[in-house]
Amino acid sequence: MRSLTLLAIPAAVQAQGFSTTMLRFGCSQVVIDRIDPLVEPGSIPSAHVHQVVGGNAFNASMPNTDISKLATCTTCTFDQDFSNYWTANVYFKARNGTYKRVPQMVNDAIGAANAGITVYYTAPGPNTVTAFKPGFRMFSGDAARRTSSGLGRNMQSCFRCYTGPNFGGNIYSPCMDPQRDTETFPKQPCPGGIRSSVIFPICWDGKNLDTPNHKDHVAHPVDGPATFAVVNGKCPASHPVKIPQVHYEIVWDTTKFNNKNEWPEDGSQPFVLSNGDPTGYGQHGDYVFGWKDDSLQHAMDNNCFGPTCRGLTTQGFDKANKCQVKTVVREDTEGWLQHLPGQEHMSPM
Ligand SMILES: *[C@@H]1O[C@H](CO)[C@@H](O)[C@H](O)[C@H]1NC(C)=O
Ligand SMILES: *[C@@H]1O[C@H](CO)[C@@H](O)[C@H](O)[C@H]1NC(C)=O
Repeated sequence: MRSLTLLAIPAAVQAQGFSTTMLRFGCSQVVIDRIDPLVEPGSIPSAHVHQVVGGNAFNASMPNTDISKLATCTTCTFDQDFSNYWTANVYFKARNGTYKRVPQMVNDAIGAANAGITVYYTAPGPNTVTAFKPGFRMFSGDAARRTSSGLGRNMQSCFRCYTGPNFGGNIYSPCMDPQRDTETFPKQPCPGGIRSSVIFPICWDGKNLDTPNHKDHVAHPVDGPATFAVVNGKCPASHPVKIPQVHYEIVWDTTKFNNKNEWPEDGSQPFVLSNGDPTGYGQHGDYVFGWKDDSLQHAMDNNCFGPTCRGLTTQGFDKANKCQVKTVVREDTEGWLQHLPGQEHMSPM
């Protein structure tokens, strides 16, 4: 029983049409740097720090071509995946006003990754989606958002407060549980860390590999955004092509920052995204497709599930962790910082 032992899918979620065509695998950090080839191509530095995983073709700008041909290694466990996946980092702001980067916690279910992201690709079933084409990119979220997106149970970006070690028990079904998932950073200390989830749209216009805002070529189903792994919604006529649902999961190791004497005196929570957002509403994800040849299409068509797939090969984290990109921007992103990198001119919030 590969699915239930791996994912412990709640029965209610299965009844809603939870898919069993799903890749779920780990990608270690390939670099932390203040560059952003999607939103600010060529800017060295870009506006804020990102944590990046995937292939080593990642750079301040990247050609709109097949990046699987430019990369020579990947931090993801599927050898065929040279895509890049990135998000803002999380920083802790101490009561004295200084900032420290919050490390990512490794998802022990996927092995000895070096920080990084757990990546999911989900389809309603075999032969139901069209995999991305070389040069495809997209963006999910809005870095400038500071209020709710109002999507309720269909929120595409959320946080979950893990109440104890081992992620406090139930780790699945991100963004679907209004009791536990919030669009904002949790208000209380989280003894098991904080999970971030970013879910991308599942419909494509079938024409554009990218659009100026990196969002308009993709869309949500007509009945509203798909929740995690419930991806059988109908795509709108403007965006008729169903694509795999891409979903990022990151667990921030906040355990060293749970002393409330270090938290703001007004009782507010102390975490902030690297773009200066103290709410969490501005959480976002960037995606640059880079699977080799038709390997992603193959995986989506062949009922693959979890971290392995007939026809694809995998590497261990011992090898994946050796794949690295050199930092381009020379600045401190670690230690206690007077301000967030790139955010010197931000007014305090
Ligand atoms: C990154 O881009 C710079 C030019 O901006 C180039 O010199 C460098 O070789 C590129 N690095 C990689 C790993 O492609
Ligand atoms: C600010 O607070 C942090 C956390 O307690 C501490 O480690 C750091 O030394 C303090 N920095 C200054 C300049 O007081």
